[in-house]
Amino acid sequence: MTKRVAILISGGGSNMVSLARAMTGDYPARPCLVLSNVPDAGGLAKAADMGIPTAVVDHRNFKGDRHGFENELQIALEAADPDIICLAGFMRILTPEFTAQWAGKMLNIHPSLLPKYKGLHTHARALEAGDAVHGCSVHEVNGELDGGQVLGQARVPVFADDTPDDLAARVLPMEHQLYPAVLERFAQGDLTPVQLGEA
Ligand code: GRF
Repeated sequence: MTKRVAILISGGGSNMVSLARAMTGDYPARPCLVLSNVPDAGGLAKAADMGIPTAVVDHRNFKGDRHGFENELQIALEAADPDIICLAGFMRILTPEFTAQWAGKMLNIHPSLLPKYKGLHTHARALEAGDAVHGCSVHEVNGELDGGQVLGQARVPVFADDTPDDLAARVLPMEHQLYPAVLERFAQGDLTPVQLGEA
């Protein structure tokens, strides 16, 4: 059965676009919604251009009331009735109560080789640590920030004169390959990890 996928974004949506473009032909999933917590997120227009329904739940309207925001988010998601949720540059931290409702059905992409560098500023932290290899991970979402089972990783080399922006530019194209590859397996119930890039 072809799975329905809701994609949550906060920004430009380049990962959302790579996911949506992959979901054609005999790919085992189709996008059913692109939702943003930021009303003017660039990815919303890109999704609309691809004919994907869009929605906005602006977290600022809830003035720090996370459960209020998540209740609204849940209503919007239930209306789209997804089988799978992909967090793609979605920059709100979800509560364990919310993630528990979608246990085993939610994925996230993170720009580091988890479990290293959970949270923000991953490229700068990899450089500060003097890492020779860096990359990105797709993981299942649980109640721990960036803490769920890793289902795929892509590695890139780190060069001596790299800046965080250099690393971000080298990692992002790998994200665009990794996320569709992991989702393709996940949509078929296959949790075998995907490994891309050698460094
Ligand atoms: C990506 O690097 C992703 O790993 C991180 O936020 C960035 C979002 O990029 N969580 P985009 O909005 O998908 O272009």
